[in-house]
Amino acid sequence: DHKITIAIDGFSSTGKSTVAKQLAKELSYVYVDTGAMYRAITLYAMRKGFITKDSFDTDSLIKDLPNLNLKFAFEAARGFAAIYLNDENIEDEVRTLEVSQYVSRVAAVSEVRAKLVSQQQLMGLEKGVVMDGRDIGTVVFPNAELKIFMTATAEERAKRRFKEMKQKGQEVSYDEVLKNVEERDHLDTTREDSPLVKAEDAIEIDNSSLSLDEQFNTLLNISNEVI
Ligand code: C5P
Repeated sequence: DHKITIAIDGFSSTGKSTVAKQLAKELSYVYVDTGAMYRAITLYAMRKGFITKDSFDTDSLIKDLPNLNLKFAFEAARGFAAIYLNDENIEDEVRTLEVSQYVSRVAAVSEVRAKLVSQQQLMGLEKGVVMDGRDIGTVVFPNAELKIFMTATAEERAKRRFKEMKQKGQEVSYDEVLKNVEERDHLDTTREDSPLVKAEDAIEIDNSSLSLDEQFNTLLNISNEVI
């Protein structure tokens, strides 16, 4: 049986992770949410006071990187793998707006990227993986058999993210969420190291007007053509 690597990249809150997770389940592949890894390092930097609204002590963070151990472990209650930082389950904590507001600055640090990219490459070594992020098709797995680039308008993405955060009981306004989506788009596409860009051989899917079912079916059909 022929296992492939599926790289899914795109802007924040395109709903990549929801369909990527569904696709992995359908194919019995491993799903890796690389955004959660950048969020975990960001949470660590916040807790240590390395990053605040107006300062970022990158040297201290870089020095601590070897002590930072990230892993995913299946959580029966949620039905998917949760992110762990040094054996602490931080799945809920990394999804806050505060982490979202800092994460793109942390993700711009080359040493952070180098650490995470090598861990991601190890996780995909045996193929049969669906990995979602910003640089999967360009940097992590440039030879992936299938590359998807997901887009949607900033307003549509903010609307979805806002709804999701509200459902989780988080205190946020739509304007704050939209502002964060736009800020991350800007930082992620303009950073020097591994900026978010569509790989030349990626298939672009604009899901602004697609339901989750439609997105999943589109993705599954494309995958089945390649597998
Ligand atoms: O996917 P998610 O929105 O959770 O990612 C959070 C942030 O992590 C992104 O806005 C981006 O700054 C960073 N990221 C990255 N490379 C990846 C995945 C995420 O730079 N492969």
